[in-house]
Amino acid sequence: MAFGVAIIGTGGIARKMAHTLRDMEGARLRAVVSRRRETAGAFAAEWGAERAYDSCEAMLADPGVELVYIATPHPMHRGDALKCIEAGKPVLCEKPFTVNAREAEEVLALAARRNVYVAEAIWTRYMPLTRTMQEIVARGDIGTPRMVTANLGYPNAAMERMWNPALAGGALLDLGVYTVNFAAMIFPGDPAAVTSTCTRLASGVDGQNSIAFGYPGGEMALLSSSLTARTDRQGTVAGDRGFLIVENINNPASITVYDFDYRPVARYDAPAQITGFEYQVRAAVDAIRAGRIETPFMPHAETLRVMRLMDGVRADWGLRYPFE
Ligand SMILES: NC(=O)c1ccc[n+]([C@@H]2O[C@H](COP(=O)([O-])OP(=O)(O)OC[C@H]3O[C@@H](n4cnc5c(N)ncnc54)[C@H](OP(=O)(O)O)[C@@H]3O)[C@@H](O)[C@H]2O)c1
Repeated sequence: MAFGVAIIGTGGIARKMAHTLRDMEGARLRAVVSRRRETAGAFAAEWGAERAYDSCEAMLADPGVELVYIATPHPMHRGDALKCIEAGKPVLCEKPFTVNAREAEEVLALAARRNVYVAEAIWTRYMPLTRTMQEIVARGDIGTPRMVTANLGYPNAAMERMWNPALAGGALLDLGVYTVNFAAMIFPGDPAAVTSTCTRLASGVDGQNSIAFGYPGGEMALLSSSLTARTDRQGTVAGDRGFLIVENINNPASITVYDFDYRPVARYDAPAQITGFEYQVRAAVDAIRAGRIETPFMPHAETLRVMRLMDGVRADWGLRYPFE
């Protein structure tokens, strides 16, 4: 029987997961949770969910729910995840995992105590082209990696979830999390030096940001994200013998490898996908069936490392959310 997944939230990304579950094998949409009964019912009818709930508590009592996907705004992740784990339900939680590292530590500690699976739904970590990129680098096709660049920008600042400090808005937590993860997937250690700047929206959250990581071995990562500009979404990894370009770090479409003389020498395209969310669902199902509480695609230590880096950058800007 396909794995029963419940979704908390009925917004944009909940719909994308519902679409994924409708079309993928091995998992199905068991239930949806909304704050309003009518919204839950309408979502369930549209996407074929077997149950519609207007509270997490009711959903958590459903024995047919084997995995909960959290698709609520950032400040709700911690509380939603804690409730699920307390009830013994495995969790796949949208990015950023929580608002800050302290919240992440709390969630991960409870998962460890209760022996329950939890993982961050940072979909890029689970994608086949990400593996390909890491293999290209590990094989030495571009020599030794020395510099990474990555950017992500969508002019979405008018959307409340993006600008409102009470919803932990800002480019860093919504988009910068992908650029920081891109660097973290190439350079496994922590940077020795972090320099960054941001410009703010009228509400005070960062509208654009730029971050430079300097690593102990001399490697560097230059990252930027924006809620006010449409950027090319490229990621690059430069080594001493060549470089590679990832088209769209948010949903990698292709990787092109260039040699020392700027000649393209290899190209890798993403396989056909449903939405790209199917990989993180499969990883969760496999790990849960194997009795594991984390996935090798996005280990708990990596979630924490990224959260701590983002905390550090926000501290440098003096950007604290009202509930922090
Ligand atoms: N992986 C990706 O590509 C990707 C893309 C976009 C967003 N995300 C992440 O997914 C999460 C949700 O983003 P989204 O774009 O789907 O947001 P959204 O469209 O605003 O939907 C969020 C949903 O959460 C529920 N909710 C519960 N408490 C809420 C509150 N106080 N205010 C507003 N909504 C509340 C709402 O459902 P009910 O009204 O039914 O309760 C709402 O529809 C975020 O963590 C975001 O970073 C990921």
